[in-house]
Amino acid sequence: METVKIGIVGCGNISAAYFRTVRAFPVLEAVACADMLPERAQARAEEYGVPKACTMEELLADPEIQIVVNLTTPQSHTPVNLAALEAGKHVYTEKPLAVAREDGAQVIAMAEAKGLRVGCAPGTFLGGGLQTCRKLIDDGVIGRPVAASAFMMSHGHESWHPDPAYYYKLGAGPMFDMGPYYLTALTTLLGPVARMAGMAGIQIGERTITSQPKYGEKIVVETPDHVTGVMEFASGAIGTIITTFATWPSTLPRIEIYGTEGTLGVPDPNTLGGPVTFCKAGTREWQEIPLTHGHFDRVNMWGIGVVDMAYAILEDRPHRATGRQAFHVLDLMNGFLETSAQSAYYTPVSSMERPAPLPTDLPEDALD
Ligand SMILES: NC(=O)c1ccc[n+]([C@@H]2O[C@H](COP(=O)([O-])OP(=O)(O)OC[C@H]3O[C@@H](n4cnc5c(N)ncnc54)[C@H](O)[C@@H]3O)[C@@H](O)[C@H]2O)c1
Repeated sequence: METVKIGIVGCGNISAAYFRTVRAFPVLEAVACADMLPERAQARAEEYGVPKACTMEELLADPEIQIVVNLTTPQSHTPVNLAALEAGKHVYTEKPLAVAREDGAQVIAMAEAKGLRVGCAPGTFLGGGLQTCRKLIDDGVIGRPVAASAFMMSHGHESWHPDPAYYYKLGAGPMFDMGPYYLTALTTLLGPVARMAGMAGIQIGERTITSQPKYGEKIVVETPDHVTGVMEFASGAIGTIITTFATWPSTLPRIEIYGTEGTLGVPDPNTLGGPVTFCKAGTREWQEIPLTHGHFDRVNMWGIGVVDMAYAILEDRPHRATGRQAFHVLDLMNGFLETSAQSAYYTPVSSMERPAPLPTDLPEDALD
């Protein structure tokens, strides 16, 4: 089988899930991995049988590599993406595409100028849960979507994460950390946003770490820990979103789409599976809808968007987890914070096309 050769930059926590995806899908071949901490690249190379652990510069100089998969921390996303494009490689980056809108725009512009691809996580919309929702909406099961809600309610990460301070700094917070899952799901189901506004604040300004090894240390919160927003989609549907690290448990649903013919219960967009639920107009009974698509969550396959990009390269078709959609999401995330400070609506500078749905009858180890 023809393969697409990839190089992975950033061999930290999430990289294991990507290496597992490479193992599960023969279309991908990992030929090198790199990290600014060489021992991390070495460890992953040994664990997953990658032929070469090296520096990023060596990886980018390897003429065999077609896609650079960028799994570095958010502040490194833009420099690594630009360097990879400069080296003539397609890139697939972890979320968010960038922290600043201008940086995301620069990455998209360079890729388009060079005729290269940019893909961006999350690829969870390729999972069976969100693909089933997409099909139900496209098949008209809920009628015309009139509204949507998305709620990511949590009290933050200081009770379990070993080093949680970065979640409360610029470029993180609940919107930049979790917003990409919720906004990618909403825009995949409903299309682009035409107008929006947010209200955001630092509601609990100091956190005490209760996880080990930093138990008892204080964190000063520097970016809003509670972000709410309203969105008018270009389709006319109106959306409401809350992302928060400032609330104790809530019973709000993660995502619901409200149509003229019923309500769709959308699964957690930070997963690849279900459940998908539906309540038909005029009734009060919720039914669970069997998934119409495979869900790829056997081994938590976070790299499914890279698999799709590999097939897209081989078949010369558009890939689905696009830089354009990720840039729209980045534009919205910044827009929620900016409009809160300005007391104004924002018209996004970006737009996107909904990614093509997946076929329903895919084999376990292929995506096309
Ligand atoms: N950990 C998760 O559960 C998770 C889930 C989904 C998405 N993500 C995203 O994945 C990305 C990575 O997260 P993580 O948890 O694996 O972080 P991590 O800190 O565990 O790993 C990041 C790795 O990148 C390396 N790195 C940073 N800058 C670099 C550079 N310029 N050149 C080479 N190497 C560099 C670091 O040394 C580190 O090993 C983030 O963007 C995050 O938002 C993480």
